[in-house]
Amino acid sequence: MPVKEALPNPSDELPFFYGCEPSPDALVEHFSHFVVAVTDLDRSEAWYRDVVGLDLLGRDLTAEPKPHSVLEMNTGQLVILVEHESIDEVRRSSHGVHHGFALTQNQYRRAVERLTASGIEVVAEREEFIARGQYSIDVYDPDGHHYQIETMDEVQAHELILPGAGVIACGSPDLYEVGEVKLFREANFFLVRLSEGFLALSRWCTHMNGLLIYQKEHWRFWCGMHTATYDRRGDPTCSTTRFPDLPALRLHPISFSPEGHILVNTDEVIERTAFEPGQAAQPPAAVSAAE
Ligand code: FES
Repeated sequence: MPVKEALPNPSDELPFFYGCEPSPDALVEHFSHFVVAVTDLDRSEAWYRDVVGLDLLGRDLTAEPKPHSVLEMNTGQLVILVEHESIDEVRRSSHGVHHGFALTQNQYRRAVERLTASGIEVVAEREEFIARGQYSIDVYDPDGHHYQIETMDEVQAHELILPGAGVIACGSPDLYEVGEVKLFREANFFLVRLSEGFLALSRWCTHMNGLLIYQKEHWRFWCGMHTATYDRRGDPTCSTTRFPDLPALRLHPISFSPEGHILVNTDEVIERTAFEPGQAAQPPAAVSAAE
């Protein structure tokens, strides 16, 4: 799969990476070095120096008995290439060990540019599995060692996404039982009937714009990106430690036609922190019966 053409916005901020949040209980703050087995020291030394951009410190500088090269990252951590006669080949796209590097958006942009200019094959193996604003590419060194390079565009991850579908007619309220959830796929929203009335829930996860599915057997919405869950009111039901301050799902406003049919305006998005009964739209018949 070729690398996608879109790039993150320019920024020198190191973004927050989900799952990489600093912990006061961390036993290891960072690693000191990692060792890579290679079959041709000259070839690999050139690749890590010229393609990856590491500083070559020199050869055979450690107690390692085999021929080796020591290179340094700009963080001070070392990459040590150790020459072996042969190494076990790792099949591409298999679940073998790989190393992932988190970059700023500008570093990511420069990496894509430099790798492409060097004629290195750059692929995006996770493109189907990443959330909006996440960027990830995969490169392989001359021995097939796999590196993932990623960044996160926070602006794109949290921007409001309008489906561009205008006003969607959803039919008579009588078509929906209380508790029912119907996906309007072309406009990416769920119409939900609660005892309080109707909600049109945007399908985009409020964590980082992953696309939700409805799991009927669990009466919940689920995001495959980082597994956030929401109930039928759109309130998050996942761990508040993993997802602190996660807002409720966004709404599209609902109105009713002169015949009393449900109309959802997907050109407008309502942000909210949590469900309140007043957010649910009641059909005209229910309103007049209550008066
Ligand atoms: S995008 Fe992260 S859980 Fe949905």
